[in-house]
Amino acid sequence: MCGIVGFTGTEQAAPILLDGLSKLEYRGYDSAGIAVRDGEKETEIIKEKGKLKVLAEMTNQGKAVKGTCGIGHTRWATHGEPSAVNAHPHSSDDGNVIAVHNGIIENFQEQREKLIKKGYAFKSQTDTEVAVKLIDYYYKKYSQQPIEAIARAMVRIRGSYALCVMFKDFPGEIYCARKDSPMIIGIADGESYVASDVPAILKYTRNVYYIGNMEIAKLEKGAVTFYNIDSEVIEKPLTEIKWDAESAEKGGYEHFMLKEIHEQPKVIRDTINSVVTEGKVHFDSVNLTDEEMQQIELVYIVACGSAYHVGVALQYVIEALTSMQVRVELASEFRYRKMTLNKKSLVIVISQSGETADTLAALREAREQGIKTLGIVNVVGSSIAREADNVFYTLAGPEISVATTKAYSTQLVAGYLLALQFAKARNEIDDEKYQMLLEEVYSIPDKVEKILTDKERLQWFSNKLINVSDSFFIGRGIDYAIGMEGSLKLKEISYIHSEAYAAGELKHGPISLIENGTIVISVVTQTGLIEKTISNMVEVKSRGAKVMAVTTTGNYFLEDTAEFVCYVPQIDPLFAGSLSVIPLQLLSYYVSIGKGFDVDKPRNLAKSVTVE
Ligand code: F6R
Repeated sequence: MCGIVGFTGTEQAAPILLDGLSKLEYRGYDSAGIAVRDGEKETEIIKEKGKLKVLAEMTNQGKAVKGTCGIGHTRWATHGEPSAVNAHPHSSDDGNVIAVHNGIIENFQEQREKLIKKGYAFKSQTDTEVAVKLIDYYYKKYSQQPIEAIARAMVRIRGSYALCVMFKDFPGEIYCARKDSPMIIGIADGESYVASDVPAILKYTRNVYYIGNMEIAKLEKGAVTFYNIDSEVIEKPLTEIKWDAESAEKGGYEHFMLKEIHEQPKVIRDTINSVVTEGKVHFDSVNLTDEEMQQIELVYIVACGSAYHVGVALQYVIEALTSMQVRVELASEFRYRKMTLNKKSLVIVISQSGETADTLAALREAREQGIKTLGIVNVVGSSIAREADNVFYTLAGPEISVATTKAYSTQLVAGYLLALQFAKARNEIDDEKYQMLLEEVYSIPDKVEKILTDKERLQWFSNKLINVSDSFFIGRGIDYAIGMEGSLKLKEISYIHSEAYAAGELKHGPISLIENGTIVISVVTQTGLIEKTISNMVEVKSRGAKVMAVTTTGNYFLEDTAEFVCYVPQIDPLFAGSLSVIPLQLLSYYVSIGKGFDVDKPRNLAKSVTVE
């Protein structure tokens, strides 16, 4: 959840660290810090509570800190409140070891007590300071070799970590260690970089190494050496990142979220084109054969947050097109359920970052039980992408805004294509229906584009929500799944309390919360269910609710019931979610802006949840 960056080379490190951290602020933004060393001189540590701009101002955008080797951190607090003391980098008392860390050290209390007995004192409440002092302890006790000291500490530490460490005796070098927290290493002429995520270094290099679990790396100017936990040198392949640097910039938009909303037509199209050629879906790159698809009886879809909402929508689509049963599971629950998975099942995990701790753990659980796994993942080389048996990459490009939009949309479309291919491989739909549905999927990008050209009415309506404290999203079937996503979007960036309900559930309790002025947003695209949802809208309206509806062009009769109706183009109802979600994303965006919030960095949240 925190972001880390490191650099060693010939340029000044501090501006590069600050620039890299600015690309990682989506991972955490309650405090930030850097440690920079100028040759053999003492390392300078500057850290402060607050967003990165505080640190940038303190250091005159990094210009006030001299040195060509350094590490930086932007924090999302886990152990200890946001404060300058708890901010990273942390240092051993004599400055021998200085480090930044992302992850959680679960046995930090136990290690801390042992270190206190050995004479160490602690300034902060963080688990990171324990790691720093443990490395320092082993460094001094044994051979005074960084790799060995780190390896010994790694054996003692339980939990997850991406660590970047500087040692007083080794100027110009950065040591990195990783377990279950993302970290990549970039290399360019005479320069080496390390970061939690690709956007931080994309401006400088596209050549990266993926450091594996329980591995260590030593970074020198323009060179990197990898070691296993036994301190033996290991070889790693160099990978070229395809994302371009501009894709991680705002590109003229006021916020990343708005830019990413507008990128949806393109990234949905790219994702479709990655597997569809000559009117057919080809899953060679996904590595799933028709025979395998024919054998599967049950699909588990496991994910967190918005990715889970994608799973809920896909459940309806897959069950409508195939005879496979679908179970959608929250990864945080799935991983601790003591259940025996059906041997003839496929576990699909959905994750933008590919690093969500619970989703990764669920994937591992499925693999341990011998079940085939498929990851729908955005970040190439991420842990889930590396560990799943098969991967369907969404081509959303870097998603910077904490609230997902374009990754969500590409996950949804990837799921449609999977559902279609399953149906075809299992002979559960005929060619004509397959072609017709594929055409409908193809039409999504243009239709999304059309919705995006007509934002003004939504912007106007969003003003009505600015002073609201409670809202409800209702719908049936796929509309319910989209309501869940709309509700999450609104609450996470505008801090308005919001609940999503299957419309038929209202009468079983929630309707008692409806009073004069309560906002109810109804998604109404599923033919066959429209009248039933209208009845629910009438029920809440007669109890004082202000009702808004998102529906398909042609359903003008909804204006009799709803105060405000937003229309999306017609499409097969199975895929209507891809369209109805767009006005809900825009609505949340405008409400958040209207309330004056930092829409790209909502409070208490981080983009990638790499801790439980
Ligand atoms: C909400 C949001 C989160 C993520 C969730 C899973 O806007 O972005 O709910 O969907 O944290 O993240 P990934 O997809 O990276 O596993």
